[in-house]
Amino acid sequence: MRAIRIGLLGCGVVGQGILRLLREHAGSLERRLGAPIEVRRVVAKTEGKARSYVAPELLSYDPETVLGDPEIDVVVEVIGGLDPAGRYVRTALERGKSVVTANKFLLAEEGHALFELAEERGADLYFEAAVCGGIPVIRVLREALVADSVVAVRGIVNGTSNYILSRMQSEQIDYGVALAAAQEAGYAEADPTLDVNGGDATHKLTILATLAFGAKLLPSHVTTEGIEHITAIDMKMAERFGYVIKLLATARSLPVGMLDLRVHPALVPKTSVLASIHGALNAVYLEGAMLGPSLLSGYGAGAMPTAMSVVSDLVDVGRNILRDSRGRVPQRTVPSGMLLRREVQPAGMHVSPYYLRFAVMDRPNVIAKIASVLGAFDIAIHQMIQEARASGPKAPVHVVVLTHPTRDDALRSALREIQMLSGIVEPPRAIRIETAA
Ligand SMILES: NC(=O)c1ccc[n+]([C@@H]2O[C@H](COP(=O)([O-])OP(=O)(O)OC[C@H]3O[C@@H](n4cnc5c(N)ncnc54)[C@H](OP(=O)(O)O)[C@@H]3O)[C@@H](O)[C@H]2O)c1
Repeated sequence: MRAIRIGLLGCGVVGQGILRLLREHAGSLERRLGAPIEVRRVVAKTEGKARSYVAPELLSYDPETVLGDPEIDVVVEVIGGLDPAGRYVRTALERGKSVVTANKFLLAEEGHALFELAEERGADLYFEAAVCGGIPVIRVLREALVADSVVAVRGIVNGTSNYILSRMQSEQIDYGVALAAAQEAGYAEADPTLDVNGGDATHKLTILATLAFGAKLLPSHVTTEGIEHITAIDMKMAERFGYVIKLLATARSLPVGMLDLRVHPALVPKTSVLASIHGALNAVYLEGAMLGPSLLSGYGAGAMPTAMSVVSDLVDVGRNILRDSRGRVPQRTVPSGMLLRREVQPAGMHVSPYYLRFAVMDRPNVIAKIASVLGAFDIAIHQMIQEARASGPKAPVHVVVLTHPTRDDALRSALREIQMLSGIVEPPRAIRIETAA
């Protein structure tokens, strides 16, 4: 029986998870695929590092041992980042090898050229693990919903930031303390930048929106804000109004034909489904014109959930190879040449209610001046509270305002004016409120 021969580029958290899964599920995978999956070579970077599940004779530090081996059918890329991972994926595809990758950064930034190359060379480029690790959201968009028209995708797609926000909420601790706890618990990397500044969620949303709307999109189309400025006070105040704060990724097809693509912290009602997604869990809410709403939830990272998605892709790619049907399923719902150019709504045109927090000196007239500037920009106040008293004679008090739906650009202009008022001691904070979550 012909085996599906693979070469693994990367042998870290996910790479070793893949090797473990291939070993522990070898029998069932062979029955399901109709052929064994044979690991021909595993490439890593650092010699002498301890690694599990890999026979020493399979290890190499030269990518050419995978890319240049004509016997290898599928290259699995689990190195991460743009370079050299992108170069290796390109070389594999150029040589007609199919590729399975978990690399959202690469696919969001350079995916269009890579998918076109794969199609040109008759190779498959599969990527289930690149978005929400173990949750099969790519397959759902690509295959299960092929008959529908997706109206909205909304989700919590970054486990690290969700873990941090969940800890801040449950323990009333500040961002820095929660980040340190996440690092200690292994939920945040030493450099957590892309997780907390919204970059990682933006990469995932770009990939999801490309599939959902069949549109040619890039991370630069997404309005992105991170969670670094969220404080314990915001968590507490949000809760008083019946909300929790989540990093939400949202992609909507607007009635005017434009797409609305955003990643930012948002207040969501405590009773909403997304509010109940805690810790390292991810969730994606999909709304189809025919299907209506549906929710996928589970672990969006971790060695084994991510490895499971990679190996499921390997089975798909293996089936295509065995039946000589590579490219049968367009990898992004439609072939690259059929992707649409969709206009993306500029951030300033977005309309939503806002949570605003002002740190003010506790003296007469400050609140009246804030209200007057908001009024001048047609921003209607829905609710307003002021903290009972400051923590010291020179300490500010916090005034929180919930607005009625407001255009983003008007709000930003009003906040710039308010920041100039005397008695305002910190830049005002603004967080969108998402009632549809
Ligand atoms: N970890 C997760 O939960 C998760 C979830 C979803 C998606 N992903 C994605 O999966 C990919 C891998 O993540 P990971 O967590 O497994 O990363 P990781 O633990 O840092 O592993 C990366 C691996 O790549 C190897 N590597 C780095 N540079 C290399 C080079 N120039 N040539 C050959 N090998 C090189 C490293 O070698 P050494 O071992 O020798 O250093 C290491 O084995 C990333 O794209 C990530 O975004 C990860």
